[in-house]
Amino acid sequence: MCGIVGYYGYRDCSDVLVDALSKLEYRGYDSAGIAVFEDGNIKIAKSKGRLSDLVKKMEKTGKPKGIAGIGHTRWATHGEPSDINSHPHCGKNVTIVHNGIIENYRKLKDYLISQGKTFVSDTDTEVVAQLLDFYYCRHSDPVKAIIETTEDLEGSFALAIMFNDYPEYIFALRRESPLIVGVGENESFIASDVPAILKYTKNYYLLEHNEIAVLGRYGAKIYDLHYQKLQKELKTADWDMDAAEKCGYEHFMIKEINEQPTSVKTTVLPRIKDGMPTLEECGIDDSFLCGIRQIHIVACGTAMHAGVVGKYAIEKLARVPVNVEIASEFRYKSPILDKSDLVIIISQSGETADSLAALKLAKSLGAKTLGIVNVKGSSIAREAEKLIYTLAGPEIAVASTKAYMVQLSVMYLFAFRLAFAKGKISQSECENYIKLLNEIPDKISEVIENQLENSQYIASKLINSDSLLYIGRGLDYALSMEGSLKLKEISYIHSEAYAAGELKHGTISLVTEGMPVIAVATQDDLFDKTISNIKEVKARGATTIVVLKDGVELPSDVADYIISLPKTIDLLMPMIACVPLQLMAYYSALLRGNDVDKPRNLAKSVTVE
Ligand code: G6P
Repeated sequence: MCGIVGYYGYRDCSDVLVDALSKLEYRGYDSAGIAVFEDGNIKIAKSKGRLSDLVKKMEKTGKPKGIAGIGHTRWATHGEPSDINSHPHCGKNVTIVHNGIIENYRKLKDYLISQGKTFVSDTDTEVVAQLLDFYYCRHSDPVKAIIETTEDLEGSFALAIMFNDYPEYIFALRRESPLIVGVGENESFIASDVPAILKYTKNYYLLEHNEIAVLGRYGAKIYDLHYQKLQKELKTADWDMDAAEKCGYEHFMIKEINEQPTSVKTTVLPRIKDGMPTLEECGIDDSFLCGIRQIHIVACGTAMHAGVVGKYAIEKLARVPVNVEIASEFRYKSPILDKSDLVIIISQSGETADSLAALKLAKSLGAKTLGIVNVKGSSIAREAEKLIYTLAGPEIAVASTKAYMVQLSVMYLFAFRLAFAKGKISQSECENYIKLLNEIPDKISEVIENQLENSQYIASKLINSDSLLYIGRGLDYALSMEGSLKLKEISYIHSEAYAAGELKHGTISLVTEGMPVIAVATQDDLFDKTISNIKEVKARGATTIVVLKDGVELPSDVADYIISLPKTIDLLMPMIACVPLQLMAYYSALLRGNDVDKPRNLAKSVTVE
C-alpha cells in the first residue's frame, strides 16, 4: 500500500515525481504529495484525492521548482484521507514519505510528546519524522539519525527522507516494504516499484532489508546499518516502457485483458522442452515432486481463486490432495504441516503481507514451499524455497486479469508435471495436455474478438441491478468465484459465487424477478446438472446469462443471454471462460462511470494485514 518516489538529477523534479507517482497509483490513490528543494528550502504540495487533484492544485499554486525531492501516493491506514494526513510529513529538520506500517507508533508518539514534540496528523508516519528529527538534533548526521531511528521502529516500512540542511541529498531506507534505487545518467531515483523509473532508466539496485540509500550529485550510494558502504549488483529491468503505459487503450484493465494471449505464451513456452512440461529451471525436478504427499495453496484475492482452479486440476490429474487457504486465515489457524507437505504461495505482487507471513510460517513448520510470483525479486520470490515466475509483465490495473491468467497457466503446467512424475498420466497424455495448453492463447484472442460487443451488451443489462449471482459446478464454480470478485471490485454491484447445486439450500431465496444470474456451464459431465439449476432460478424470475461451449445445445427457455466460447478440454476451459467474465466486469464498471483502474477503497499491493 502507498507508493513512494525520490529523485536527484537535472530534470524538473516536480514533473519527474508526478510522472513516477502516476505509475504507482495502483498502490493507493486517496491522496498524494511531493516535497522539493527549491532554492535550498523544502517546498511541499499535497492534497487529498487522486494525483490529478494534486496536479490541479499545483496548477493554481505553482509547482515546487528544483532538482531533488520526494513524493507519495497514499492508501490510508492511520488517519482518514485528508490534506493534513497526506504525505510528506515533517519534523523540524526533516521531511519524509512512507510506505508501510509502524506497529509501535503509539508508544513512540507518547514518548516524543513527553519530550516536547507536537503532532498535527493522525498518521504513524509523522512519528517517524519526529523521531528522525529527535536523533538528528543529537547527531547532526543524517545517516546516523536514520540508523538510530530504524532501531526504534517496529513494523515494515520504506522511507524517503529529506533533511533541511542537506539540499543536495535524498535519503531512503527499506525494511520489508519494497524499494528500488534507479540509476540513470547524472540522475538517480527511489521508487516502490520498477514501472515508476522505466521512462528514465532500466538499471536499478534492489534495496535489501535495513539498507540505506543516499542519492546525490555523485549518484547513489548504499549503506548498511553499521554505516558500511555496500557494493550492490546493478539489475536491469526486462520490462519495457510500454508495459507501464496505456498505449492507446482507454484503461490498463482492457489493455491487460488484451495482453493475455501474449502473457500466456511468455509464461508457458520457456517451460516446455521436447513437448513436455519442465520446471527444472525453477529447481523442481521429478524427485522433488514425487516426495509431495499433500499440497496447500495459500493466497489472497484473485491469486487464491487461481489456486482453486489449481486444486481441481492437481487433484484430478495427480491425485494429490490439495487444500486452498486464504492467507489471512491460514497464518493464524495452527496449520498441520510436515516435510512431505508442499505449501504453494501464489501472488502477483510478491509483497502481500498475509501471503508472505503464511510462507514464513510454512517454512518454520518444516514444509516445502513454492512461490508462484509475478514481480521479480519481490519478498515472496526471495523467501520461497522453490520459485516459478509468472511472466505477465507489470500489471497496473487494480483488478487483476492477465496475472490471474498466467497463474492458471502455471497451475496447469505444475499439475501436468506432477501427474506425470507420480505416474498418473503417461508421457503421451502429458504431451497432449501441453499441446492443448499451447492452443489456448489463440482461443483467448478469439474470445476477445468475438465476445467484446456481446459482453458489453450484456453488461448494459446488469448495471442497474443491486445484486447478482454467479453459479457453476466444479471448475465452473472455481471460475465463478473470480468472475464475481471482478464484478464487485470495479462495478460495485454486489454479487456472490455459488456452487450451483448448493443454491437450493438457502441462497435461492434471494432470487426475485429480474435478478441476473450468470451461469458458467462449460463442463460436459456437469452440464445437465447445471442446466437443472439454471431452470430452478429461471422458474423464480431470474434473468439468466449462460456461458457455454460453441455447439452445445441449450434447452429453450433456459438462457436470456448466451455467451458461446471456443472449445477445448473441460480441464482448460477456465482459461477461456474467464475472458467474458472479465469483459463483463470491465464494461459494467465503465458504463456505471466508475474509475475502472482505480476502484474505490482498494489497492493492488496489500502490504498490511
Ligand atoms: C489485492 C488486489 C487483488 C489481489 C490480491 C492479492 O486485494 O486488489 O487484485 O488479487 O491483493 O494480491 P497478490 O499480489 O498477492 O496477488
